[in-house]
Amino acid sequence: MKVLTGSKLKDFRTVWLEGSTVKMIDQPKLPHAFRIASFANHKQTAKSISTMVVRGAPAIGAAGAYGIAQATLEFRGSDMKRFREHMKAAEKVLASTRPTAYDLFHGIAAVMKGIKGAETVEEAKRRSVEASNYYAEWSAENCRLIGEYGGKLIKKGDSVLTHCNAGALACVDHGTALAPIRNAHHAGKKIHVFVDETRPRCQGARLTAWEMVQECIPHNLIADNAAGHFMQRGEVDIVIVGADRIAANGDVANKIGTYEKAVVAKENSIPFYVAAPSSTFDFSCKNGKSIPIEERSEDEVLFMFGKPDGIMLGRPRVRIAPKETHARNPAFDVTPARYITGIITEKGIFKPSQIKKLKK
Ligand code: MRU
Repeated sequence: MKVLTGSKLKDFRTVWLEGSTVKMIDQPKLPHAFRIASFANHKQTAKSISTMVVRGAPAIGAAGAYGIAQATLEFRGSDMKRFREHMKAAEKVLASTRPTAYDLFHGIAAVMKGIKGAETVEEAKRRSVEASNYYAEWSAENCRLIGEYGGKLIKKGDSVLTHCNAGALACVDHGTALAPIRNAHHAGKKIHVFVDETRPRCQGARLTAWEMVQECIPHNLIADNAAGHFMQRGEVDIVIVGADRIAANGDVANKIGTYEKAVVAKENSIPFYVAAPSSTFDFSCKNGKSIPIEERSEDEVLFMFGKPDGIMLGRPRVRIAPKETHARNPAFDVTPARYITGIITEKGIFKPSQIKKLKK
């Protein structure tokens, strides 16, 4: 992805291996600072996944793959039996970081498969570096292709709604949901993007908005609960989201809030697309019910992080989006009566069709 550092646009991958160090864009610092974080061994890399320094399914898949490569490079000695035990333990540490995104297990398995059959520790080390780099390149290329195919779905002047961050930051490069958006923008289609803020961690406000700013893609940040309003008003032409795991029957697990966007999109006859590479498909899951859903700390809901931005109404406030990003903030929306099962009043509960009785 292209990142404006100083006055220069530079190309960055989200995660990569340099010697035996895993490097990655430090995502919790965005959008207020662009920093590269370094992790010296597989245990540190595992922690970077669980604490979400790197996040997004394909990106954590690549981080898992690199973590396995690191585990081989860390090993001292030439005893293959001890080496195998060490690798089994490392695999367990990396695989227990986040449960939902299938790419993590795919990335780990790809490198473990790559070292299978190695006759010496040295050979395993060489193979693991090759396999992890190959995995990351393959993953980035898949996303580039998603951009090419998906870009065709977006018409000139379309407004696209997206949830969470399924951009280059969530992948090795390009993104899944954001790849078609990038593609359409660079094809000169004059598109606009509605960016759901995506509480509680605000991946939309912090990361998707940041990606939009880097490439000058016109966008508005919206509160999660404003998406239905804009769909209903005809301001959204298409919804594109990413996926963390896709079950054999096509059920999709993605960031909390995706389900309700899909329901509202259907109600408003708005096409709803999921963009995901093959590494996200888990055919051993019969349907969505068997996809493990991660539950994270309640603190993520209870506290906001951001950049101190002065005082508002006598209280300190924190800015959570880039300074270039403007928001749209409707305070009310209209729910048609046909969706209302009952209205609770001091006279009892009424169906909307019974309101006339209440008047009498
Ligand atoms: O909790 P996160 O930030 O890892 O969640 C990310 C998402 O839900 C993305 O939409 C998904 O991983 C697809 S990324 C291309």
